[in-house]
Amino acid sequence: MSWTREDLHRLIKTKLADRLFIVVSNREPYIHISSGDEIQCVVPVSGLTVALDPVMRACGGVWVAHGSGTADRRVVDDKNRVMVPPDEPSYSLRRIWLTREEEDGYYLGFSNEALWPLCHLAYAPPIFYEADWNTYKKVNQLFADAVLDEIGDRQAFVFIQDYHLALLSRLIKAQNPQVTTAQFWHIPWANPEVFRICPWGEELVDGLLGNDLLGFHIGYHCDNFLNTVNLLMEARIDYERSAVIHDGKTTLVRPFPISVDFDQISQDAASENIKREMERIRHTWKLDDKIVGVSVDRVDYTKGIPNRLLALDKFLAKYPEYQRRVVLLQLAEPSRTHIRKYKELNLEIDDLVEEINWKYQSGDWKPIIYIREHCSPPGILAFYRLAHFCIVSSLHDGMNLVTKEFISSRVDEDGVLILSRFTGAARELTEALFINPYATDDFAETIRKAIEMPKRQRQARMRKLRHTVEQNNIYKWAGNVISELTNLGL
Ligand code: F6P
Repeated sequence: MSWTREDLHRLIKTKLADRLFIVVSNREPYIHISSGDEIQCVVPVSGLTVALDPVMRACGGVWVAHGSGTADRRVVDDKNRVMVPPDEPSYSLRRIWLTREEEDGYYLGFSNEALWPLCHLAYAPPIFYEADWNTYKKVNQLFADAVLDEIGDRQAFVFIQDYHLALLSRLIKAQNPQVTTAQFWHIPWANPEVFRICPWGEELVDGLLGNDLLGFHIGYHCDNFLNTVNLLMEARIDYERSAVIHDGKTTLVRPFPISVDFDQISQDAASENIKREMERIRHTWKLDDKIVGVSVDRVDYTKGIPNRLLALDKFLAKYPEYQRRVVLLQLAEPSRTHIRKYKELNLEIDDLVEEINWKYQSGDWKPIIYIREHCSPPGILAFYRLAHFCIVSSLHDGMNLVTKEFISSRVDEDGVLILSRFTGAARELTEALFINPYATDDFAETIRKAIEMPKRQRQARMRKLRHTVEQNNIYKWAGNVISELTNLGL
C-alpha cells in the first residue's frame, strides 16, 4: 500500500498534536500577478513548491515565503497572509517583502551566484561578494522574524527548505529555543574540497547545525556534509548514527529522496482536459506521424540543455533515416535571467537551436521545437503524455522531479526515460536508460535505443518505474521526515 494524503494527515495529527506546522522557503507556492485589471494566480516551476504544496494541503499550517508576484501585496491581509490554494483554501501563505537590493544580494547574489554553483558540479565558478553575504544574513533574519511572529507563544515545528535559508534555524532558536526545526537541502552538497573555498563555509555549516534534523536527497550528499563538518568544525561526528554533536547539541543527518503526488498526477493526466490538450498540441505542431521527445526544464546551466541538443544533432547526423521523423519538444521556463551566466546560456541555446534546425529542416519539419515560456502544470502533463521518450540530461541535480512527474503522468504505461547518471533520481529509477550528458556519442546512441525499444520492453520498464514512484511518493517523504523527528522525542 502506498502512502496517501489522509495517512500523512493522520500522522501529523497524532505526532505533532497541537504544534503549529510551518514550512519556510524562498519561493512561494502561489504567485499573484497583475494582468491588466485582473489578478492571476500562477504556480511557479519549482520542484520544491510542487512537492511541498500537497503536503501543506494535507497538514494545514503556515507557509512563509518571499512574496515575489506583482500583485502579491494586493491580496494579503494586514499580517501579509493569504489562504491558498485559491480553489481549495487549505493553508495560510505568509509573505515576506524584500527590497530590490535585498533580492539582489540574497537571492541572485549569494544564493544563486555563490551557493548554487558551489554545490553543483557544472563548472561554473561561484562568485563570493561580502556584500551579498551580509544581505543573505540580513534576509535570513527577516525570515526568522516572520516565523517567530507566526509562532507567538505556541509550540511549533518548523520545516525549512533549501540553500537560501542556511542560517534560519539558529536565528529562530536564538529567540525561541523550544522550537523544533528540520531543514531539507534540495540541491547536492559538494565534497569538502570543493566546499572549503566558500569564505563563510564555517558559518553556513554552523547555521545548518542549528537544526534537529537535516535532510538531503541521497546518502552520498549526507556523507559529503558530514565530511565537510569534519574538515571545517570542532564537532564530534557519530558516523554510526549519522549525527553531528556540536556545542552539546545533536543534529541528525539523513537521506530522504523527495518525490511527487503520484496519484494526483496520474489522475490529472488521465482527464479529458489533458486528452483535449494533447490533441491541440499534436495539431499545432503537426506531430501526428512523428516520434516525439520531450524535455522540460528551467533554463539553468546545471540542466545540460546544450549537451542534449548536441546529442540530438549527432543522432540525426548518424541516423539520417530519422530525419523528418523525430521532433524534440523542449519546454524551457526562463529562470534567474538577471544573472550573467543565465543570459549567456539563453544565447547559447538560441544559437544551437537555430544552427541544428537550419542544418536539418525540410518542408514544414524541424527537429527542435523550442518553447520558452511559462507552461501551466496541466499543459506540461499533456506534453509528457505525448512523448515517446523524455530526456533529463542534468550535469548535476539533487533529485530532479521532472523524472517523477513524467513517470506519474504515464497512465498508459508507455514512454522511455533517458536519464543522466548525475541526478539523485538515477539511484531510484533504475529502469531508465542512463546517459553521461558529456559523452555525446553514447548519448546519441541512447536516443536511438529509446526510439527503437520494442513496445513490450517500454511497458515493462515503465510499469516498474511507476511502481517505484507510487510506493515512494511525496506523502511517504514527508511522513518519514516527521516520524524521524518525533522518534527523537522532540
Ligand atoms: O530545487 C532547487 C531550487 O532552487 C528550488 O529551491 C527552487 O524552488 C527551484 O530550484 C527553482 O528555482 P528558483 O526558486 O530560483 O526559481
